[in-house]
Amino acid sequence: MVHNGIIENFRALREDLAAQGLAFESETDTETIALLTRHHLDSGMTPVEAVAATLKRLDGAFALAFLFDGHDDLMIGARKGSPLAVGHGKGEMYLGSDAIALAPMTDQVTYLEEGDWVVLTRAGAQIYDAQGRLANRPTTRIRLDQARVDKAGHKHFMAKEIAEQPSVLAASLGFHTANGQTSLALPEGVDFSTCDRVTMVACGTGHYATQVAKYWFEQLAGVPVETDIASEYRYRQPVLSDKAVGIFVSQSGETADTLAALRHVTGKVARTIGVINVPTSSIARETDVALSIHAGPEISVASTKGFTAQLLVLLLLALKAGLDRGRLTEAQVSAHLETLRGLPALMAQALDHEPEVEALAVRLAESRDALFLGRGVMYPLALEAALKLKELSYMHAEGYASGELKHGPIALIDKNMPVIVLAPHDALYDKTVSNMQEVMARQGQVILISDRAGLEEAGDVWARLVMPNVPDLLAPMVYAVPAQLLSYHTALARGTDVDQPRNLAKSVTVE
Ligand code: M6R
Repeated sequence: MVHNGIIENFRALREDLAAQGLAFESETDTETIALLTRHHLDSGMTPVEAVAATLKRLDGAFALAFLFDGHDDLMIGARKGSPLAVGHGKGEMYLGSDAIALAPMTDQVTYLEEGDWVVLTRAGAQIYDAQGRLANRPTTRIRLDQARVDKAGHKHFMAKEIAEQPSVLAASLGFHTANGQTSLALPEGVDFSTCDRVTMVACGTGHYATQVAKYWFEQLAGVPVETDIASEYRYRQPVLSDKAVGIFVSQSGETADTLAALRHVTGKVARTIGVINVPTSSIARETDVALSIHAGPEISVASTKGFTAQLLVLLLLALKAGLDRGRLTEAQVSAHLETLRGLPALMAQALDHEPEVEALAVRLAESRDALFLGRGVMYPLALEAALKLKELSYMHAEGYASGELKHGPIALIDKNMPVIVLAPHDALYDKTVSNMQEVMARQGQVILISDRAGLEEAGDVWARLVMPNVPDLLAPMVYAVPAQLLSYHTALARGTDVDQPRNLAKSVTVE
């Protein structure tokens, strides 16, 4: 038996089974499912009856696959809270977590719905719903370009995904705009005209994307915004408004906490919008409107193109909110879209600096800790950069708003502390320079990532990385590139597993 998820009542089940004389070999909830099924088989049930009886007793989230000794033409799968899909081959059938996992075998996929379970033989599949009724779920043909999962000549998926960002963002911009990319083309349900606030919920990197977007929604649409981490939001008692728009951001569309947060507000807010990368995912299906970021499969556990593509779609949503609320005219939106058309080229220019980033990463890899600083939209980017460095290189890294430095973190600064400052030469730049000087006065090693004007003004820093001049709205996407490359090359220098960092899963389908 294979199990992804958590069985919340496994201790009670375990005690029950132990009382009936069954012996356990491990402490896992997974073994409990296997033994419970075995117990049902021993009482004379067929495999299908045994699984049906087991499923009735399980609380929690799971995707399950069962094989039975002596039944070589039978596999049973079940899903509740975790994704599961059936693949159709010629004279063979498959179970997988999603279309990407199944892509090397087949392009014919049936997605199981919440509570479904399926009996597979080589000849086909019979799907039952949570009530045990036969269910008819459609089989879809997945586009192989969407499921293409090779490294395209790169050493790692992460390297490929970083490199393809200019083309990903260009394509996504094309999908969401019309008239030669001069006007927005978002689905009808995307409407902010009567909303009294925007609530954005996500986890990890998606959460940092929403934190950047908060600045944009406030600036472009003048709408109050709250952002929260899904695992907190779902257990808070958020004050909901029936005029609010809820935006749920998830690359996989299957993150358990984000899905639970979505369900928490469904029916209580004016509308829910999903910003997702997998159009068949649970969050895509359960939001009122789902907008794809069109990033293509993201295989590396560390999100890179997913992040910048989320930012792009959130920026388009902020422009739409500005338009709907009368803060922006069509002409102003058009002008912003014109600016956005320059984004792929600017990201390509940022990518050109990879050799300098690599050299810097070799030095950074010697350190134990790192601090990232940023102001305005660069603050959430500092948080994202720190997350990336932690998850890839296992170095301790923190992101701070530059202005917070003197409220505590400055105590950490000494000659061994690298401080990476993300600071385009914008309206807030002078303030960031003062923060950098505070670091340098305490022998901190400042690595400044800025444009030429910013680097010239900064004086003598420990290391520098030059970025192209970027319009303010594009800076978070462009500056994400050196942050991603820095964590990638630091991980390489430290010899960690880039695509599959320890202890992490690509899609966190349990809370
Ligand atoms: O699939 P999601 O966008 O919902 O995933 C959310 C986080 O688990 C994810 O962003 C995670 O933080 C990544 N490992 C970051 O690189």
